[in-house]
Amino acid sequence: MGSDPAVKFSLGSGPGLRIPAHLGVIMDGNGRWAQARGKRRTEGHVEGVKALRNLVELCITYRVGYLTVFSFSSENWARPPEEVSFIFNLLRRFVASDLQRLIRNNVRVRIVGSRNGLDASLIRLIDDVEAQTAHNTGLVLVVAFNYGGKTEIVDAIKTLARRVADGELSPEHINADMVESALYTAGIPDPDLIIRTSGEQRLSNFLLWQAAYSEFVFIPENWPDFDEACFLRVLEEYSLRDRRFGGIGAAAH
Ligand code: IPE
Ligand code: IPE
Ligand code: MG
Repeated sequence: MGSDPAVKFSLGSGPGLRIPAHLGVIMDGNGRWAQARGKRRTEGHVEGVKALRNLVELCITYRVGYLTVFSFSSENWARPPEEVSFIFNLLRRFVASDLQRLIRNNVRVRIVGSRNGLDASLIRLIDDVEAQTAHNTGLVLVVAFNYGGKTEIVDAIKTLARRVADGELSPEHINADMVESALYTAGIPDPDLIIRTSGEQRLSNFLLWQAAYSEFVFIPENWPDFDEACFLRVLEEYSLRDRRFGGIGAAAH
């Protein structure tokens, strides 16, 4: 890197780049990236980790506050067991290779998802990474791992239902804030922008509740090819969006 983002912000004729406070990324297309090169799908996942490392650096440089990446969905258990265990090992390898750098870069890591199906050593690793970075004040890197939006909402309903059953809460008092506090992402603002690579145009169960007012940008590049040029192109597109949140927007008076 080394380039000054302030210089890049002033490039072009527009008003400059708007930086999302929270960026979500559906990192898709690792398998197709590999297959197109005659490689095994798993090699695409290895390359995908490099693209993720690069994106973390970009988010630090451009002062994105939160970055949430979708790395393993609750539906990805449907893949061949060898691929599933490869992805699980990749999470372990990523922590082993990158944790110290993340700490040096003041990154706080949160890993969100269901713990069902994760073995005890992986749960310990997740707890340890979160604890070791808990006091960092820079970029918040949220890794959605074994994550599914529907399960997250079901788990939140269970939490609230238990409080009702215990007589702590009356159903009439349940509101959106309470639901949000019961989600895995409690305390994290909703994503402003969600990017999906590889040309697919769907959420695939990513941040269903939180994406209510997110902007979406879909790009054709497969995840391992995602670089600074893609990042800037997406931010330029996002900067042109008029986010109205049900109102009449900035241009209408
Ligand atoms: C995204 O790439 C990574 C994960 C879902 C773990 P894919 O593995 O889905 O790659 P494609 O979509 O099959 O090309
Ligand atoms: C979504 O990608 C999950 C992740 C990127 C981790 P998938 O490749 O699993 O999504 P579908 O099956 O094409 O919808
Ligand atoms: Mg895919």
